[in-house]
Amino acid sequence: MRIVMVCLGNICRSPMAEYVLRHLAAQAGLSERIQVDSAATSRYQIGETPHHGTRRVLAAHGIPCGNHRARQLTRADYGRYDLIIGMDAENLYDIRRIVRRDPEGKVHALLDWSDNPRDIADPWYTGDFETTYADVLEGCRTLLDDLRRRA
Ligand code: 4NP
Repeated sequence: MRIVMVCLGNICRSPMAEYVLRHLAAQAGLSERIQVDSAATSRYQIGETPHHGTRRVLAAHGIPCGNHRARQLTRADYGRYDLIIGMDAENLYDIRRIVRRDPEGKVHALLDWSDNPRDIADPWYTGDFETTYADVLEGCRTLLDDLRRRA
């Protein structure tokens, strides 16, 4: 299963979701089965490392943060991943604009698996990385539960 987490800049929410899901998959012994990556819809932060707020919140929760560099999602990524997961409705709109068609139903929002589907606020604007972390954790936990049920 290959998953790409997607947000606007690929420095705050999507690298956070990438590292949280990787960590949960490792704890569940599923690192070999679940590959997680991340990408941006925009070109704003191409080449940049994760935001210090993302790094700080991951460290505070004992989650390893790798040396990801922001990159933009491409149309070819549609064939490379099984799931393309945005953080909010704007991300979904932009993902669909990039991949153009979603015949295999790969495009979802991270909180689609939650009992309370909703957007994940962008901490670039809110400054609240803890609230974003709680939402990302809920999304990754419910997604992983679903993947395990279907495995
Ligand atoms: P992200 O947050 O989409 O969660 O990575 C943002 C990061 C950078 C910008 C916007 C949102 N920006 O405008 O550069």
